[in-house]
Amino acid sequence: MKVLVLHGVNLGMFGKRDPSQYGTITLAEIDARLMALGRELGADVDAFQTNDEGAMCERIHLAHGDGTAGVVINAGAWTHYSYAIRDALGILSVPIVEVHMSNVHAREAFREHSVFSDIVLGRIAGLGVDSYLLGLRAIVTAVEARHGAASG
Ligand code: DQA
Repeated sequence: MKVLVLHGVNLGMFGKRDPSQYGTITLAEIDARLMALGRELGADVDAFQTNDEGAMCERIHLAHGDGTAGVVINAGAWTHYSYAIRDALGILSVPIVEVHMSNVHAREAFREHSVFSDIVLGRIAGLGVDSYLLGLRAIVTAVEARHGAASG
């Protein structure tokens, strides 16, 4: 089962960026945790980060035909306003889970709103790296439910 993990704008700075919100874990460490959990769950995790909105749309387009079974996305600030990324995600027919390291509901008002809300299965926020790990678990469960657990 192929799962795509997408990290958006500024997320390559985890580890250095605002530790009171995001802790000190780096993106490479987050990806390593996701790969390890993926191996446990039987999921082949592919992680991608970019600060370029067009490049993010293009990576999402590739997922349309490359056998991706589910997507976990932390789009960073794009979450709150990018209709381009929303439309790209909307092209996919696989389950998508939105995750955030910080509790977006306990911060500035603009972070409450997600332009992806109605096209994602669910949203997990505020749990640091566990938001990603729980998101991966949720996607694996959703894909298995869709295709039957036996197909792995
Ligand atoms: C974030 C929350 C967003 O509001 C913010 O713009 C980010 C990170 C998070 O993981 O908590 O860049 O997506």
